[in-house]
Amino acid sequence: MTKQRILTGIQPTGTLHIGNYFGAMRQMVRAQDEGETISFIVDYHALTQLPNPAQFREHVVSAAVDYLACGIDPDHTIYFRQSDVPEVTELTWILSCVTPMGLLERCTSYKDKIAQGLKSNHGLFAYPVLMAADILLYKANVIPVGRDQKQHMEVTRDIAVRFNNQYGDVLVIPDSRILDDVAIVPGIDGHKMSKSYDNTIEIFGAEKAMRKKFMKIVTDSTPMEEPKNPDACNIFTLYKLFADDGEIEALRQRYLDGGMGYGHAKQELFEKYWEYFRPLRQKRDELMDNVDYVEQVLQAGAAKARIEATATLDAVRRAVGLR
Ligand code: ADP
Ligand code: TRP
Repeated sequence: MTKQRILTGIQPTGTLHIGNYFGAMRQMVRAQDEGETISFIVDYHALTQLPNPAQFREHVVSAAVDYLACGIDPDHTIYFRQSDVPEVTELTWILSCVTPMGLLERCTSYKDKIAQGLKSNHGLFAYPVLMAADILLYKANVIPVGRDQKQHMEVTRDIAVRFNNQYGDVLVIPDSRILDDVAIVPGIDGHKMSKSYDNTIEIFGAEKAMRKKFMKIVTDSTPMEEPKNPDACNIFTLYKLFADDGEIEALRQRYLDGGMGYGHAKQELFEKYWEYFRPLRQKRDELMDNVDYVEQVLQAGAAKARIEATATLDAVRRAVGLR
């Protein structure tokens, strides 16, 4: 059997939180042992939200650094910046010409974004076609995505099938891998951790600020001496992400025994979190001091990606009768 080609687009959204890490990044890192992996920072997509240019550049660099620090290995993954392979925009145009308007009009993420107050623009509307081009350009088989991207994946498959029906078997029809079994990481207020809820625990936050944040984790008001229910406690849920089985059992017992205040549990959780990300933090600091190296990694990745991209685009151009 030939190896699976697993592809992910990374939004340069600024600061990453531990929900992103356990919900998405860790799977990407693990996929590197499973097949051929391709990951890129989707800066063309991010442009649909028109941030200011300086902030935009900063977000792209920090995403590039964060993912490397978290374990994307450029020797195993073709890792690059989407806009360094501009062939994707030509494929987007060609795919646009087989994409019915109705297919895009049905996309809920466009409607949601407008409802959230984002300005409507054609880029935002055509976003799923660019995503389809991202995937089809590299002939990827497996796309790990969150549930929110399920519809976009259906659009991608639909576009690929329409293209192939019209022009012959040129494109590879990809499958999504919905990351459903990933537990939802709660935020410090107990709701799903999300930038939109302002309840995040950053992976790379500063020590003092993070310690303070941990102290704000919401708990019930069971007095210190009384037994507590670990399974209904945010601190314990978060602790399980970082600790081994023995440590988890030990903390569970202390909850059940009573005599432990939530303040103590928060301290222990913080220590675990801080240790867990220590090597990643060190790596990130090194990379931040060496952004030229990061740029080289992205350029080298783009060169490899471009070989794949040109081959697909050539086949597509020939199929539709261009050139
Ligand atoms: P946010 O909600 O903070 O804006 P994103 O939507 O940018 O996060 O999420 C990026 C990735 O991280 C997605 O794949 C998503 O499924 C995952 N993710 C985000 N928050 C969580 C969470 N609280 N628990 C598990 N996974 C999460
Ligand atoms: N649309 C995805 C998101 O909003 C990001 C993305 C762009 C993507 N291109 C992709 C994801 C290709 C997977 C594959 O999160």
